[in-house]
Amino acid sequence: MFKLRFLTAGESHGRGLVGIIEGIPANLEINPEDIDRELMRRQAGFGRGGRMKIEADRVEIIGGVRWGLTMGSPLALFIRNRDWENWRRGMSPAREERGSAPPVTRPRPGHADLPGVLKYGQRDIRNILERSSARETAMRVAVGAVARRLLEEFGIAVGGFVTAIGDVSMEIEPSQLMEEDLRSLSAAAEASELRCPEADTAARMREAVERAAEGGYSLGGTFLVYAVGVPVGLGSHIQWDRRLDARLAHAFLGIQAVKGVEIGGGFEMSRRPGAEVMDEIFPASTGRGFTRKTNHSGGIEGGISNGMPVVVRAAMKPIPTQRRPLRSVDIETGGTVEAAYERSDVCAVPAATVIGEAMTALVLADAFLEKFGGDSVEETRRNYEGFLKSL
Ligand SMILES: Cc1cc2nc3c(=O)[nH]c(=O)nc-3n(C[C@H](O)[C@H](O)[C@H](O)COP(=O)(O)O)c2cc1C
Repeated sequence: MFKLRFLTAGESHGRGLVGIIEGIPANLEINPEDIDRELMRRQAGFGRGGRMKIEADRVEIIGGVRWGLTMGSPLALFIRNRDWENWRRGMSPAREERGSAPPVTRPRPGHADLPGVLKYGQRDIRNILERSSARETAMRVAVGAVARRLLEEFGIAVGGFVTAIGDVSMEIEPSQLMEEDLRSLSAAAEASELRCPEADTAARMREAVERAAEGGYSLGGTFLVYAVGVPVGLGSHIQWDRRLDARLAHAFLGIQAVKGVEIGGGFEMSRRPGAEVMDEIFPASTGRGFTRKTNHSGGIEGGISNGMPVVVRAAMKPIPTQRRPLRSVDIETGGTVEAAYERSDVCAVPAATVIGEAMTALVLADAFLEKFGGDSVEETRRNYEGFLKSL
């Protein structure tokens, strides 16, 4: 990230999660409700494990905001882990509590457990799984909500929806989806516990998750995230790591269990002749500027936003922890065992969609500030409007 940076810290069953986000201009209106709304969206969704019932995430803003406005200083956020009471001793930072919880020694295939203990010289897998857990994404959603608030000031909206769970999928052509289509799909998804806009597909997805829960296995899926109102000119062709598509791919692959990303037409474009997948350029109906009738490029050409909706699709693998355990090897005894099982989600694709939206908001806010700068929202706005006038 070039202008905006953030870090998260905290363990899944520790006291809580901490986030710092730096680079947000002064005078941006931010209220805890803006963040809590997103935290609630992340927690909703059919297929989450029992843990969701004990957590009702709420943010505490402990720095960077005064009287509902940012001051240009870093924002410091805290989310309490509601589970902490049960883990006070087992996750205590105090030396006196050492050994108060039994070590986890049976690594789960597909998780960070085994490479993590080997890399960090640990004998208790808990020292790895506590941080590799996707609990951490609650804080990413919180800092993403701050980025989202900034984008809103400039008419940029981010949304998303689930496109597949297991082998149940929606038939969509991302290249044909224009702003109104995307907005209405995500609005419909908001009312769905599977975060899928098609009611009949959502019902089949629900059945698939129920079957998986009964059978003791997990499911993955795909989800689409978009941003509309994005001006031309974010990101750059001049260096690999400044490309907006590369920055989005990095951010999506940074989400636990996301294993594939496509921008716009993505993999499908590779199967079609060139003439079918380039978005031809037409004069805008207003007589000034340009327009496209398709969006295979997903709003990005040459690593630069082109004014069309930014469209990203991601694939999430199934959750590694399963009630029907997989074969593994005990790291203490070397014997063949069943992998450890801890209360776990069966399917978290609806939640991953909200996390994808947060990451998209962070990448776009970073690229927006890189282009327009400004230490206060007013200054950013002057720069932004000046650029729009110059086009
Ligand atoms: C929202 C969300 C919830 C998740 N919930 C679980 C879970 O309950 N149990 C689990 O084993 N993995 C869960 N995962 C996936 C693991 O965090 C992930 O597979 C693990 O960290 C290993 O990383 P990798 O899959 O990217 O290699 C979840 C991921 C996300 C995005």
